[in-house]
Amino acid sequence: MEPLFSGLFDAVPDALIVVDGQGRIAMANRQAEQLFGYAGGELAGTEIEMLLPEEARGRHRGYRAGYMAKPHLRPMGATGQTLVGLRRDGSQFPVEIALSPIDSDAGPRYLASIRDISETQRARQALVRAGYDALVARIGQLALETENEVGVLGEVPDLLADALKIETVAILALRPDRQTVEIRAAKGLDADRNPVDAGIFAAALESGASVIADDFASSAPPFPLRHDSAGSGALIPLIDRNRAVGALIAYSRQPRRFDHDALHLLQSVANLLAALAQRRHTEEQLAHAQRLDALGQLTGGIAHDFNNLLTVMSGSLQLLELETEGRAEMQELIATALRSVSRGAELTSKLLAFARRQRLLPQATDPRVLLQDVELMLRRTLGNAISLRLDCESDLPAAFVDPTQLEAALVNLALNARDAMPQGGEIRIGARQVLVDSTRSSGELPVGYYVLVSVSDTGQGMSPDTLARAMEPFFTTKESGRGSGLGLSMVYGFAKQSGGHLQINSAQGRGTRVDLYLPVTHAAAQGAAPASAGRATSGGETILVVEDDPAVRNIAVAFLRSSAYKVLAVASAEDARQVLLDTPDIALLFSDVMLGSGRNGKELAEEARQLRPDLPILLTSGYEEHAISGAADFDLLRKPYRREQLLATVQRLLAAAVRIDGS
Ligand SMILES: Nc1ncnc2c1ncn2[C@@H]1O[C@H](COP(=O)(O)OP(=O)(O)OP(=O)(O)O)[C@@H](O)[C@H]1O
Ligand SMILES: [Mg+2]
Repeated sequence: MEPLFSGLFDAVPDALIVVDGQGRIAMANRQAEQLFGYAGGELAGTEIEMLLPEEARGRHRGYRAGYMAKPHLRPMGATGQTLVGLRRDGSQFPVEIALSPIDSDAGPRYLASIRDISETQRARQALVRAGYDALVARIGQLALETENEVGVLGEVPDLLADALKIETVAILALRPDRQTVEIRAAKGLDADRNPVDAGIFAAALESGASVIADDFASSAPPFPLRHDSAGSGALIPLIDRNRAVGALIAYSRQPRRFDHDALHLLQSVANLLAALAQRRHTEEQLAHAQRLDALGQLTGGIAHDFNNLLTVMSGSLQLLELETEGRAEMQELIATALRSVSRGAELTSKLLAFARRQRLLPQATDPRVLLQDVELMLRRTLGNAISLRLDCESDLPAAFVDPTQLEAALVNLALNARDAMPQGGEIRIGARQVLVDSTRSSGELPVGYYVLVSVSDTGQGMSPDTLARAMEPFFTTKESGRGSGLGLSMVYGFAKQSGGHLQINSAQGRGTRVDLYLPVTHAAAQGAAPASAGRATSGGETILVVEDDPAVRNIAVAFLRSSAYKVLAVASAEDARQVLLDTPDIALLFSDVMLGSGRNGKELAEEARQLRPDLPILLTSGYEEHAISGAADFDLLRKPYRREQLLATVQRLLAAAVRIDGS
């Protein structure tokens, strides 16, 4: 070789290699030897493929034969693919190669000029990554700006497909039936070319893990989009409270389109979308709870007024009953009217339950015992077409609830389940302990342990519209006369007032499960309290009645007089105080809690206790909120009361006072 050429060959900053027609290295300059980690002269005579990773060698020999058959000038970077070089120490690095055939006396020769592009590539990678980060920030900002999640969702597929330079990006969700797929947003999703396989999609979500298919030709995990055999794809689940509810799917017809950075981008966007969905969910739940609260306020007020009316009606009727003793057809009419009144009282008590103004007597209740108690009654009520299964975890802690109300709640739920299965089916009632933690609670329940009582059926389930309104008072889909629409309202109010929660899971055609969360107590469960009964007879004592509503006052007076008590009646706490001071032989104070203006019945009761510590006191209220917050220290009679109830209570209190006195 000419000295000039040889000097030039070594002086060029690029690595140069000359290859002969058999692919052997004829010459390599110093830069080439250094780049690949060889000593001077070591490369000469070896096959060029030595400088490539083993797995690329076979393919390269093929390329080489093709090139040599039709040699031409090929500049750097012309293939568009990254080529990889192999150093002597085994390490690899990205290279760009320019090729040119050269004339030579010794036969065909080819000059390869090789450049290490590690640095360039790193810079390019950093640029891509910065672009991805900017995209995540942009989507986050969109989410903050837009009120509704739908707007953000719509933009995400386009933005991602652009950034990743791929054809298809879609956000898919599984419908509540968990069998059909909803396309929430998509770019380049062609229903004919890439139909979605709902079964594979559901299975992927069930596992909760991402699915990455680098190259469908070589390794093909089940992927829910129909794909070209050489393509690549990624599925990232969208997690809402520990459960995959949908997925972000990216697909390209080319292999290996999802490197580490691309997957990182997809994961970040999926996290953002999941957070968005969770926010919407929480807001919806809040709105639902607020709506029920507002309804509760309204119905609570109405129920209270109704209760007063019912007290008057029922009292008048009961007095008439006494007056007309022995006149059968009149007694018949009165009995009919009384039945309607007690039906009305039932309705108002359900409304009060919904408004969380029911008088609850919570106590440590063993759910297992209670379930066994209701079982027999339910079996009889439900009939043969429905099988009932009870499934109670052992070692359940006691729930702190009013057992009578819990029974009523279970009966309501079981009847709803029965009504949803006109052809028969199965009802399961289960009880177990659950921990509500911050990921599950979504603000509806304080974190902690609960007894979860679930009633599930195999019935027709509810449409989304029905589900959204099922707990509202008077919402019913049953024909008129069959349902009042107060069952679930009552159960909801009871759960809430007890410090628990009610949750309904239902989908059309797939049955219903109602979850009743009840607070746990570690006190030992009590047996049922013995009911106190006794005939009401009077010893002619004097009773002070305090009631601001004249009609209700008259009824109370009449009830008491009918049993030969002497009665003094006043309308206010102030008047009552005066009577107590003036009349020492008052034997019992009977007062309404709500007394219009001035002091209320509870304040009066406390004052009376100061004045006459031994005086038996009985309060009455139809407005249970006051009863709960006010009068735990005093006996309370719920309005509307029946004559016998009033007389029995009065008599019990008088008898107890006598015992304390020792007289
Ligand atoms: N287990 C269930 N399966 C299907 N739908 C149900 C179920 N439970 C309740 N629903 C739906 O919710 C509605 C409201 O139920 P809710 O118990 O409050 O009232 P109701 O049963 O219609 O009347 P009521 O209980 O006062 O007799 C029902 O009419 C029904 O459409
Ligand atoms: Mg019902």
